[in-house]
Amino acid sequence: MTDSNSPSPVTVADRDAVRIITVNRPDKLNALNGATLDALDAAFVDAIASDSVRAIVLTGAGPKAFVAGADIAEMNTFSAVQGRDFSLRGQRMMRRAERSPKPVIAMVNGFALGGGLELAMCCHLRIAADTARVGQPEINLGLIPGFGGTQRLLRLAGRAATLELCLLGAPIDAARALALGIVNRVVPAAELEAQTMAVAQQLANAAPLAVRGTLDCVNVGGECGMEEGLEYEAAQFGLMFSTQDMREGTSAFLERRKPAFSGT
Ligand code: COA
Repeated sequence: MTDSNSPSPVTVADRDAVRIITVNRPDKLNALNGATLDALDAAFVDAIASDSVRAIVLTGAGPKAFVAGADIAEMNTFSAVQGRDFSLRGQRMMRRAERSPKPVIAMVNGFALGGGLELAMCCHLRIAADTARVGQPEINLGLIPGFGGTQRLLRLAGRAATLELCLLGAPIDAARALALGIVNRVVPAAELEAQTMAVAQQLANAAPLAVRGTLDCVNVGGECGMEEGLEYEAAQFGLMFSTQDMREGTSAFLERRKPAFSGT
């Protein structure tokens, strides 16, 4: 629990249709304690429910870290049951972000370690500063990843990279993370915010129902077989023909003008 005098562990701000969610414990390198996980979950519930929000950027406060992991001080005295519950609490929050119908971009401004990399991996895109370092160092604490790291890293970067990162526990730099497919882009640290916001604005201007359909297909397809995935895609594709935005997008192309999407 945070007392009323503590700064909020998560802050939110809007820039046009982009909601920026910031983990705000810079003196602890934005480590995720239970209160921070709950505040993040509430921030995602609100962003998803807010009609004015079309894209979400997730980042960490301060110059050093995105998130340096789950809070080691809090975990130090956990029982097995508390450990399981903490894992479920983080997994629930990260699953909510992953299944968000609005696109979520992780703006990785520094260390993304342990729970921090897990948090970045539940986002739909990851843009990293060239100074960022990412890893799953839990093994050095006698632990394993507990917020989906073994599962999402496996799906994102494959078995070899997952076993290397989780078993050896050594962080890697942004360039290697890019080569392994763990992040989508690496940009100079000074340009991180501008470049991330440009991508977020592009997504905010895109047809919301098509964005949602794409996210749904990739989420569902990543967790089922090819036949079911193709069937789901065909159903979603068909659904697009019931939208105003599909008429607008195709008409704008034929009329050689820019589309104006309404989200209907
Ligand atoms: N949990 C709790 N506190 C953390 C933390 C974490 N995961 N990561 C950093 N902090 C705290 C430190 O304890 C320190 O607090 P203090 O000033 O009250 O002592 C503060 O954040 C600054 O960290 P510090 O270690 O002094 O910074 P550094 O620049 O020397 O090292 C790291 C940076 C990221 C290499 C180092 O903090 C680290 O290894 N953190 C843990 C990473 C990890 O194992 N994550 C997985 C957790 S499951």
